[in-house]
Amino acid sequence: METVVSGIRPTGNLHLGNYFGALQNFVKMQNEHRCFFFIADYHSLTTHPTPADLHGNVRNVLVEYLACGLDPEKATLYVQSDLPETAELYLFLNMNAYLGELERCTSFKDKARTQPNNVNAGLLTYPTLMAADILLHRASKVPVGKDQEQHLEMTRTFANRFNRLYKVDYFPEPIAFNFGEDLIKVPGLDGCLKMSKSENENSCIFLADTPEAIRKKIMKATTDAGPTEPNQPKPQAIENIFGLMKIVSQPATLLHFQELYNACQIRYGDMKKQLAEDMVAYISPFSEKISALSSDYDYLRKVAKLGAEKAHESAAKTMREIREIIGFKAF
Ligand code: ADP
Ligand code: TRP
Repeated sequence: METVVSGIRPTGNLHLGNYFGALQNFVKMQNEHRCFFFIADYHSLTTHPTPADLHGNVRNVLVEYLACGLDPEKATLYVQSDLPETAELYLFLNMNAYLGELERCTSFKDKARTQPNNVNAGLLTYPTLMAADILLHRASKVPVGKDQEQHLEMTRTFANRFNRLYKVDYFPEPIAFNFGEDLIKVPGLDGCLKMSKSENENSCIFLADTPEAIRKKIMKATTDAGPTEPNQPKPQAIENIFGLMKIVSQPATLLHFQELYNACQIRYGDMKKQLAEDMVAYISPFSEKISALSSDYDYLRKVAKLGAEKAHESAAKTMREIREIIGFKAF
């Protein structure tokens, strides 16, 4: 049995990319491993949400975790800010994280470009906070999507550096995990490579979307006039429609549209109608559970309390040991 940690930032509702890149694996792993799945609300502060938005989004993610099948009895489900030990470990790790390596991080460079008026220290040290989340439970596996690979590499660097500095073998080297498969990237409806809420809300199918919303979005998805020669390579936007179909439709359906495409007979209107119906069938079980759970505040409170207690037990042990290793000793 290995220790598993992962989290998602509460920035709104979760989408199909979050599900396939992360959540689906959380659900699969909870039966076999010691799992900690949290809601990364400290991380959200880099973009200065209002208190009401922050709380509402934490609640959305908790509801969606449960609706997707995470079981609070099997896995530890908690809210990051319920575990202030995270902040203490973040402080320790920051003492051995260097400006150059933090500045070179791709996600930092992207954010510095997209939010030039808010390049705060939290953004720069995002990878050390993420490393603190993982190392706090001494995890060895981290189910995340492809875009998080570099953060995992930095977590390994910080873990090894700590071990070397204090001449201990305390932290394991955590790896991004997807059951031996390549890390997944779900494509967007807007023709962009990745379905992403922070890049473009319109690229996303949300787990909470109603059937009407799904149909409308898919019918509006970017396409073109169609191929002009047989077996032509697909432009990105078309590749994406096929990519989404591969995820939610039957293999025979995908093959059918592939053949029409290769023969230059494809009608994207028909393909999108089919994709919309398959997507509705896929998403409906989630959206129904989400709407049933979202008003059950008593249950949500109970889940968060249980998770905070279990997570605290694990974190407190690690912090006691780390303080000792560093040399903070009681008199
Ligand atoms: P967004 O890009 O929408 O802001 P996040 O960065 O909050 O999404 O991602 C949360 C988790 O979901 C991460 O583990 C990330 O790797 C995964 N993820 C997000 N979008 C995708 C996608 N399109 N395909 C695969 N995984 C994804
Ligand atoms: N950085 C992750 C994201 O944007 C969220 C996250 C924060 C995380 N801490 C983590 C993921 C620890 C895995 C482990 O999606």
